[in-house]
Amino acid sequence: MQGDIEKVLIDRETIARRVEEVAGRITADLVPPGAAGAAGVPDDGAELTIIPILTGSIIFVADLIRRLPVRMRIRLISVSSYPGESTSSRGATILDHLTSVPEDLSGQHVLVIDDILDSGRTLGAVTQMLRARGPAALRTCVLLRKQRPEALAFPIDYVCFDIPDAFVVGYGLDYNDYYRNLPDIVTLKPEVIRG
Ligand code: IMP
Ligand code: MG
Repeated sequence: MQGDIEKVLIDRETIARRVEEVAGRITADLVPPGAAGAAGVPDDGAELTIIPILTGSIIFVADLIRRLPVRMRIRLISVSSYPGESTSSRGATILDHLTSVPEDLSGQHVLVIDDILDSGRTLGAVTQMLRARGPAALRTCVLLRKQRPEALAFPIDYVCFDIPDAFVVGYGLDYNDYYRNLPDIVTLKPEVIRG
């Protein structure tokens, strides 16, 4: 597995520092200083619902939410976008049987979390579906954003890192479902990638 790595793009220490920073911003936006009680809930009494998009966001979400000292619930959502050995997005399908999001989100502050913003199709489909469920607020957060026009044009609240338009794996991101457990964000040697 290590032999397949071409280059480390973002190492684990840099990721950890940046995740901590972004968690601080999210917390400040959710709970303005002095506005919250000890329970750390948004000041309008709304509840926070974290919606991670499976599977790529799992490691990022695990690290991020432990740095958000607010009362929250987690609802998972599963989206299929990169079938198998492909490295380019082919549209996003929300897998309805794999979502635990309630039909009614009124009163909920929703934070959708994904690993990477590429074409924007995944987050676009997910936010459209969630908005229809009437949340009090809907914010979006990604670990990575690719430097391509569609990604840069997509409205997003929190981005940890902007990266070149290259295919990356590690820290949750996969190629053909492998490499998610690499602790750093890396590129793969061309001979490893078929799609
Ligand atoms: P989008 O719908 O094109 O924005 O693509 C977002 C989804 O595609 C992400 O949730 C990832 O699962 C996947 N994806 C996009 N770029 C990469 C990459 O460089 N490596 C691994 N997965 C990626
Ligand atoms: Mg994904």
